[in-house]
Amino acid sequence: MATAAAGPLLGCAATGGLQPSGVRRIAVLGAGFAGVSVAWHLLQHTTSSAPICVELFDEVGVGGGASGASGGLLHPYNPKGKLLWKGAEGWNAALKLLSVAGTACSDTSTTGEFGSTIAPLAWKRGILRLAKQQKHALDFQKNVNNAASDESKIACLGGPAARELVPGLEIPAEGLALYIPQAINVHPQRYLKALWLACELFSRKASTTDCPGTQAVLRNYRVGSLTELKGSYEAVVVCLGAQAMLLPELVDKLPLTSCRGVVAQLQAPRGLRNVYDSQAPNLLFGTWVAVQGERDLLLGATKDWGSMNASPNVDNTEATSALEKLMDETAPFYPSIKKWKVKGWQAGLRAMPPRSSLGSLPLAGCIDELVRSSQLGGYSEQIKNTASTKWWLFGGLGSRGLIHHGWLGDQVAKAVIYRNESLLPQILKQW
Ligand SMILES: Cc1cc2nc3c(=O)[nH]c(=O)nc-3n(C[C@H](O)[C@H](O)[C@H](O)COP(=O)(O)OP(=O)(O)OC[C@H]3O[C@@H](n4cnc5c(N)ncnc54)[C@H](O)[C@@H]3O)c2cc1C
Ligand SMILES: *[C@@H]1O[C@H](CO)[C@@H](O)[C@H](O)[C@H]1NC(C)=O
Repeated sequence: MATAAAGPLLGCAATGGLQPSGVRRIAVLGAGFAGVSVAWHLLQHTTSSAPICVELFDEVGVGGGASGASGGLLHPYNPKGKLLWKGAEGWNAALKLLSVAGTACSDTSTTGEFGSTIAPLAWKRGILRLAKQQKHALDFQKNVNNAASDESKIACLGGPAARELVPGLEIPAEGLALYIPQAINVHPQRYLKALWLACELFSRKASTTDCPGTQAVLRNYRVGSLTELKGSYEAVVVCLGAQAMLLPELVDKLPLTSCRGVVAQLQAPRGLRNVYDSQAPNLLFGTWVAVQGERDLLLGATKDWGSMNASPNVDNTEATSALEKLMDETAPFYPSIKKWKVKGWQAGLRAMPPRSSLGSLPLAGCIDELVRSSQLGGYSEQIKNTASTKWWLFGGLGSRGLIHHGWLGDQVAKAVIYRNESLLPQILKQW
C-alpha cells in the first residue's frame, strides 16, 4: 500500500513522527453516530504490517450534529412493532458499541453496566409505544403474535396494564400499547465521547504493542470540499449527516431530505410529587419522552422538513412554537408533563432517506463516480494523479441513527479496508 504524501493538513503522518511504512491513512468526515462507529471499526483492522491511522474530522467536535441532539432512543422495531431491516444485527452491534464505550470511560469504583452510575451512558427503561389509532393497535397485536417465537420480549398491553407501568398515563381501558422492555435510551453526547475515547485508547495500546503507527486523531476542522482532501488519504468516508448535501461534489446528487428537529430538556420542579417513576419506560407516540434521570427528561422532537438549519441553538421564537407543539402532543397521554419546567433546548438536522418497501434505509456505498463527475472540466489531470483515493458515503440515517450505526458502521469499515463495495448491501446505494 503506497503511503500518500501528507496533504495541506497536518494529520497522522505529520503528528506521528517517524512513520512505519505501510500506514493506511483514512479520513472519516463527521463525528456523529456514523463517523465514530466507522472510526472504531476501521481501527479494529489495524495490523503490524498495515497499521490504520484514522483522522476524524468535525467542525464542532464529537457529537456536535444530529447525533448529539438526538433523543437517544434505541430499539429495533418499526411503528407497527415489526423488526426493522437488519434490526436484530443493528441492535446487537449497538449494544456491543455501548459496552465498548462503557469500558473506555469506566472509573474503578462507580461503574455500572454502561459507564458510571453517576453519569450513565444509557438507561435500561424500555419503551412503551402508544397506539394513536385503532389500526396501529391491530398492527401491534399481529406483530407481537408473529414475534412470539423469537426471544424478543415485546408485549401488547391493554390500558390498565399500561397505566400500571407508567403512573399518570392517560390511556383508555380498551386502548393498546406496545411494550418493548429491552429498549434503552442513551445519553448521546456522553456515549459518543466515550466511544471516541475507546478509539483513542485502542489506538494507543495497539501502537505501543504490536501495531506501531496505529492512530486515532480528532481534527476540529470544517471540510469545505472533498477536493481539498485529495491525495492525502487512501480513503475518505463521508459521514456528515444532512450536511453531506452541502459538499460541492455531492450537492443535488443524494436522495436525501433534511428535517430539523428540536428537543426540550425538561426538569421536574422541586416539590413536584409523583415525578416520573424510576422504573417506568420511556414513551413513544410519534413525539417521545426519554427519561434521563430522576428529575430530567427529553421531550422531542419537532419536524421541520426542508430546513437546512443545523444549529444546535434554539432561539426564543423556535422554542416557543416547539414547546407548544410538543406539549399539545404529549399532554393527552401524560398530563403531568405540563408541570415540568424547561431547562434547555437541543436541536439538529436529520438526513431523511427515501422510503422503500423495506422501510427507510440508510445510504452507503462508494461515491467515486459522484466525486469524479463533479470534477470533469478542469480537474481531470489531478484526478488521474489521485485515482488511488477511494471515496465512500455512509449517511441518510434518518430518525434512527442508533439502530443502524453499529452494524452498518462495521460493514462500511470492511468495505473501506478491503476496497470492495460488494461487502455492502447493494440496496443502500440509493443514488
Ligand atoms: C431532534 C432529533 C432527535 C432524534 N432522536 C433520535 C433517537 O431518539 N434515536 C435515534 O436512533 N435517532 C434519533 N435521531 C436521528 C439521529 O440523530 C440521526 O440519525 C443520527 O444522528 C445521524 O448521525 P450521523 O453521524 O449520520 O450525522 P450527524 O450526527 O449529524 O453527524 C454529522 C457531523 O458532521 C459534522 N459536520 C457537518 N458538516 C461538516 C463539515 N463540512 N466539516 C466538518 N464537519 C462537519 C457535524 O458537526 C456533525 O457532528 C434524532 C435526530 C434529531 C434531529
Ligand atoms: C468483494 O467481496 C465479494 C463479496 O464478499 C467477493 O465475492 C469478491 O470476491 C470480493 N472482490 C474482491 C476483488 O476481493
